[in-house]
Amino acid sequence: MSAQPRSPRLRRAALSVIAAGALVTGVLVNAGPSQAATSQPCDIYAAGGTPCVAAHSTTRALYGAYTGSLYQVKRASDGATSNIAPLSAGGVANAAAQDSFCSGTTCLITVIYDQSGHGNNLTQAPPGGFTGPDVNGYDNLAGAAAAPVTVGGHKAYGVFVSPGTGYRNNHTSGIATGDAAEGEYAVLDGTHYNGGCCFDYGNAETSSTDTGNGHMEAIYFGNAPFWGTGAGSGPWIMADLENGLFSGVNSGNNSGDATIASRFTTAMIKGGPNLWAIRGGNAQSGSLSTFYSGVRPNASGYNPMHKEGAIILGIGGDNSISAQGTFYEGVMTSGYPSAATENSVQSNVTAAAYATTSITSGPAVTVGAAVSLRATTACCTTRYIAHSGTAVATQVVTSSSTSTLKAQASWTVRAGLANSSCRSFESVDTPGSYLRHSNFQLYVNANDGSSLFAQDATFCPQTGASGTGNSFVSYNYPTRDIRHYNNSVYIASNGGTHTFDSATLWSADASWVVTTGWSS
Ligand code: AHR
Ligand code: AHR
Repeated sequence: MSAQPRSPRLRRAALSVIAAGALVTGVLVNAGPSQAATSQPCDIYAAGGTPCVAAHSTTRALYGAYTGSLYQVKRASDGATSNIAPLSAGGVANAAAQDSFCSGTTCLITVIYDQSGHGNNLTQAPPGGFTGPDVNGYDNLAGAAAAPVTVGGHKAYGVFVSPGTGYRNNHTSGIATGDAAEGEYAVLDGTHYNGGCCFDYGNAETSSTDTGNGHMEAIYFGNAPFWGTGAGSGPWIMADLENGLFSGVNSGNNSGDATIASRFTTAMIKGGPNLWAIRGGNAQSGSLSTFYSGVRPNASGYNPMHKEGAIILGIGGDNSISAQGTFYEGVMTSGYPSAATENSVQSNVTAAAYATTSITSGPAVTVGAAVSLRATTACCTTRYIAHSGTAVATQVVTSSSTSTLKAQASWTVRAGLANSSCRSFESVDTPGSYLRHSNFQLYVNANDGSSLFAQDATFCPQTGASGTGNSFVSYNYPTRDIRHYNNSVYIASNGGTHTFDSATLWSADASWVVTTGWSS
């Protein structure tokens, strides 16, 4: 005990050296996914004779012995990258390491590592049949802090896919090809989806193009109505088998595929020679339902299958980029997992204890208050977000401004139309109309009641990016905050392809002081 440093700071340092030593020992002793102390999903699949050949998660280790990197983040300030590992073997991600590395700037998820040892990492998806919005036609990367949750009480981050975001690996090893059998599961946010094509995780074309029916076998989640549908109005877990999302044996409707309503959802697809299944359940409790199990679809081209073995996340096989969703963890197996194995995986998922956590921070923005939103950049501290008809810009407003301008620069704070934890801003002089983005620019439009409008008009208050006031993160594009640029107002990312995404002054331009409204 005499060697124990007395000051808490030194003591912490000594403990972290001990912890680092333990980690190194853990890596040497437990190098690889076997001999797990605790059974995690891939240990369960291995015990069932259908081992994982890809295992992806930004929230936790999927093998009891896994101590390697879960994912990599890249920060905007200097382009540096950092790998995020579990807190302990088989444990939850070290989100605090991300928070510290990304403090004062923004981070994107650049790599989602394959924990299976097959090297099947997911990285920024390249252009294919469709072109992505980032440089050279690549898809966008997800914001590293966009999908906070807790897992077993520890903070962790999921992968928030906005339309345009996608990850892929076209050069895999060990993934099923042709008609070979495989299983897939994913834990998703059951409340984050849309009707675009296609929020997928799983097997797809190695060319990023549509090479024909049966060339994919991926989990799909959403309410895209063009191909298959299930019971109710969706969202549904379906199989993306290429040129078709299948909810059962028929193209079109299969009423056995239930609408999903769980915040955390377990989704499973498996397929082998003339056999496949859809299963799903609440990832927080209870057992799986089987939504379909039987022969291959009766449409032409899906029996036998022609799987190619690439892996996609958040996009369609041909790099369709219209969909959205949130991914926490998922795997692909070699072989057709038994229902008993899948049931054990579901038990493991529910025991992991996913839970929601706050998605806002910073000064309170009080529902019902009339506010004005003042710019904080040195150029512009007398400017406020104002509208004239549908157009939005920052305007200089003073006590001697006209009452018309004062009202144009004032907003009634509402609970967020898409998420009540966030906020929407209703025009004081045009009740029923709200600040919303469209094509990443802000407008004031009447609420049309659509899900898209609600999302476009919802902003989540955070501590100001510069440290002053609040930033307002777009609900459906959380890599983007409300930002003024040349006095126009956008949702802008901290660096990116649009002029208004310029990293210069981004933090100040994206930080606003919420004042008492000029008018109410
Ligand atoms: O099968 C549905 C979609 O159709 C696929 O994801 C895509 O490749 C094609 O556009
Ligand atoms: O602003 C980005 C998107 O552009 C909005 O979500 C949509 O309304 C428009 O297509």
